[in-house]
Amino acid sequence: MENFIAYNPVTLHFGKDILATLGTTLKEYGNRVLLVYGKGSVKKSGLYDQLVQDLKKQGFDISEYGGIKSNPVIEDVDAAAAIGRENHVDVILAVGGGSVIDSSKIISVAIPVENKAWDFFTGKTKAKTAIPLVAVLTLAATGTEMNPFAVVSNHALEQKSAFGSPLTFPKHSFLDPQLTLTVPRDYTAYGIADLIAHCFEAWFGSGEATLTDRFVISIVKEAIEYGPKLLGDLQNYEYRAKIMFAATMALNGTTMYGRSSGDWGVHSAGHCLSLLYDVPHGASLTIVYPAWMRHFKEHVGSRIAQLGSGIFNEPLTADESIDRIEAFFKSLGCPTRLSDLNIPGDLRTPIFESMVHTRVSGANMKMTEEDYGKLIELYM
Ligand code: NZQ
Ligand code: ZN
Repeated sequence: MENFIAYNPVTLHFGKDILATLGTTLKEYGNRVLLVYGKGSVKKSGLYDQLVQDLKKQGFDISEYGGIKSNPVIEDVDAAAAIGRENHVDVILAVGGGSVIDSSKIISVAIPVENKAWDFFTGKTKAKTAIPLVAVLTLAATGTEMNPFAVVSNHALEQKSAFGSPLTFPKHSFLDPQLTLTVPRDYTAYGIADLIAHCFEAWFGSGEATLTDRFVISIVKEAIEYGPKLLGDLQNYEYRAKIMFAATMALNGTTMYGRSSGDWGVHSAGHCLSLLYDVPHGASLTIVYPAWMRHFKEHVGSRIAQLGSGIFNEPLTADESIDRIEAFFKSLGCPTRLSDLNIPGDLRTPIFESMVHTRVSGANMKMTEEDYGKLIELYM
């Protein structure tokens, strides 16, 4: 087992009607709130009206930035930070999925400085202070609600990159599974796939940690058992709650205890697909993961077999495990080949170039240009 430090300062509020205490929580930080949200799901569901009404009643002064897109972009982060700065906000309230919360993490460190937000991703600006962030999660997938990471795209530089610092943990995250009842079937499935992929990325990292391996297997088993049930009954609160909790646990540090790294090569390759073709994050992972396992089978075959046998509860070889995992992703309705997405044109060259440009690699399974070519062929 590797040495490790466990640190997670997020206060998680989980359950039905848990937003009742949101106002009291925000008050801890002040009166001026910057409300950040996405393209419109919060307005459609009525959550926006309800929140704004409640918070105004409680005397909050609200400025807002709406329109954060899925696979969020740095321009929105800069524009929202400018609004936060102008209004001298005391606290940021992010209401949405991973894209909104990730953007808000960067907004929180960008407001106190005048620099471009992208400078945090390049290391040109160091995060020294942050406006407190309170998150209301509306989609179970990324785990952003209980981790410090933020993933944002910069199309001018052709990069989709991650940033994280101890300052970018949300102070509080509110998770009411009822708020995920409106997530459509496809994004519900992508979320299930994403949480499974987070477990896999930890599994294929470095460092032997048997108890942590058992955590990983348990989280994936939960998703394999309840994911399909949820997809067959999208209005079921209990299934929504189980998947929401699993997604949080899949990337809040628990799966990393006793390891020196995860792998994250599949995420890194998947980001190129999102960057180039706006592929939803979870879908990019169900396309790349089976191909990645087939490609690196020679090196991590016994680990693949151990994973497959653990999550499906029967002895499986590496090949059988990969086939079962791929079939499971398909059964969720997720794409497992790039061709499933019907994107026209020559895709091999731009993807290869993007992988070279962004230096796609895993921390454990390093990738070269030869690997890129083979991986692309395997998932075409
Ligand atoms: O924009 P709106 O209108 O809100 O619609 C969103 C969006 O179209 C919709 N949605 C969200 N909640 C809803 C809802 N629709 C109906 N009812 C609701 N309750 O769902 C769509 C997808 O939302 P998005 O936030 O983009 O999805 P997700 O939560 O999967 O986040 C994806 C982003 O997170 C990054 C990904 O790369 C991607 O950019 N990730 C962040 C991580 C982290 N911070 O730790 C780790 C992940 O590996 C991932 O990289
Ligand atoms: Zn992910």
